[in-house]
Amino acid sequence: MIKKGIILAGGMGTRMSPLTKAVNKQLLPIYDKPLIFYSLSILMLAKIKNILIIVNKGQLSQYKNLLGDGKNLGIKIIYKEQDKPRGLPDAFILGENFIKKDKVALILGDNFFYGQSLTRTLLKCVKLKSGSKVILHRVINPEKFGVAKVKNKKIISIKEKPKNFLSDLAITGLYFFDNKVVNLSKNLKPSKRNELEITDLLNKYRQKKKLTAEYIGRGGAWLDTGSIEDFYKTTNFVSAVENRQGFKIACLEEISFQNKWIGKKEILNSIKFYGNCEYSKYLKKIIS
Ligand code: DAU
Repeated sequence: MIKKGIILAGGMGTRMSPLTKAVNKQLLPIYDKPLIFYSLSILMLAKIKNILIIVNKGQLSQYKNLLGDGKNLGIKIIYKEQDKPRGLPDAFILGENFIKKDKVALILGDNFFYGQSLTRTLLKCVKLKSGSKVILHRVINPEKFGVAKVKNKKIISIKEKPKNFLSDLAITGLYFFDNKVVNLSKNLKPSKRNELEITDLLNKYRQKKKLTAEYIGRGGAWLDTGSIEDFYKTTNFVSAVENRQGFKIACLEEISFQNKWIGKKEILNSIKFYGNCEYSKYLKKIIS
């Protein structure tokens, strides 16, 4: 079972400047919650309680003010600063002491997942015994992502943002790895854009026939909130679902309560912490 997870929530957020000049992108709102709630909720739905959040240098206190050590959510959160964006596999180098001898999941702080069979898929992924697993989703703009070409249910090729069409299956920002990931990441060479590339790391697993995939089908949504436009699209999506059903997406306390990690006492603490707001009203409904 994978019991540890890393959220990569650093990066310069340059594409969203000036919004990101003083505030980290993952703390900006997607409808009624900070963006980081959504990635954290995915790890919690996968029953992962031990979490490392990697943040930009100088922004640690903002995250600590929001999430603290996770105790009130029934989880354990620790933080690490990244002094500059060296690429996604840097998470495993920075996270070496956190990972120790265990397997680990990685989620990008700007990814959004939603769908009915999502929790089932997540619980399948954390059962990974060895190798690596990615989650694929069909998109109309594959040139913007890492993509995977699949033949006879096997991943035969992987490329980061291919200029020429390779496949329309995007590799989403949620990955599951065995413990070899730390050493493999340390041995990666920076790409032309001077970053360690997640696709190079995944290719190492693929070459050893150790890379498998799960899919988010038509009934599920995966959105990457890389640009301002994407932020508004995702906000509209969340608002449409929440206001129609009355259920919140990524209410951390609700997930924790359902997992039986916390009780009424912790939810009351959260209500006090958030103050008089819609989110708190929702929390009151959960315990009434
Ligand atoms: O969203 C899925 C895509 O994410 C994958 O399909 C690609 O294969 C993968 O490379 C990545 O592409 P992006 O262009 O979206 O990556 P970006 O550089 O925007 O970084 C994603 C998030 O990770 C963002 O919230 C910032 C954070 N980050 C990024 C880097 C490079 C860090 O915290 N540290 C870093 O060093």
